[in-house]
Amino acid sequence: MQIAVVYASRTGNTRRAAELVGTAIAERGHSVSVASVDDLDYKVLADADLVVLGTWVAGHFVIGQKPGDARRLAKVPKLTGKPVAIFLTYAINPGSALGKLEKALTREGADVIGGYAWKRSSLPAGVEDFVDGVLGAVKPASA
Ligand SMILES: Cc1cc2nc3c(=O)[nH]c(=O)nc-3n(C[C@H](O)[C@H](O)[C@H](O)COP(=O)(O)O)c2cc1C
Repeated sequence: MQIAVVYASRTGNTRRAAELVGTAIAERGHSVSVASVDDLDYKVLADADLVVLGTWVAGHFVIGQKPGDARRLAKVPKLTGKPVAIFLTYAINPGSALGKLEKALTREGADVIGGYAWKRSSLPAGVEDFVDGVLGAVKPASA
């Protein structure tokens, strides 16, 4: 499969998670590109069998958590009909930010097939399981 990993990151945690996810995907024999949301290649996105989209949790730590950088993420074209996996990094408490991101993408017609919220201090734990789960959930377009 061709897989595009796209992330929004301010201080590097989400970029690190994206790179770890990209490495794990490549180790499983897939073609993968990892790019910041500020540096998108629209053809790569359009051609991708799976898009993995990551951002960070923004809120007031115990309330009001939501996906960070929503305006930057809006640069991603609508992923209608595309399998999409989502992830977040956070410091203390992600609240329902993952569910909010899933809802926003589903509203645009994306097929959200998996998601994970990483406590930034716990990376890279969970990366391999996330990647295995997501790859197992994608139905190739030709199937
Ligand atoms: C303005 C702001 C608000 C944040 N709000 C939360 C929050 O509500 N809950 C939380 O667990 N982490 C919160 N964080 C921490 C970030 O989600 C965390 O550090 C994340 O890993 C940052 O990702 P990045 O390094 O890719 O920018 C906040 C960070 C910022 C800058």
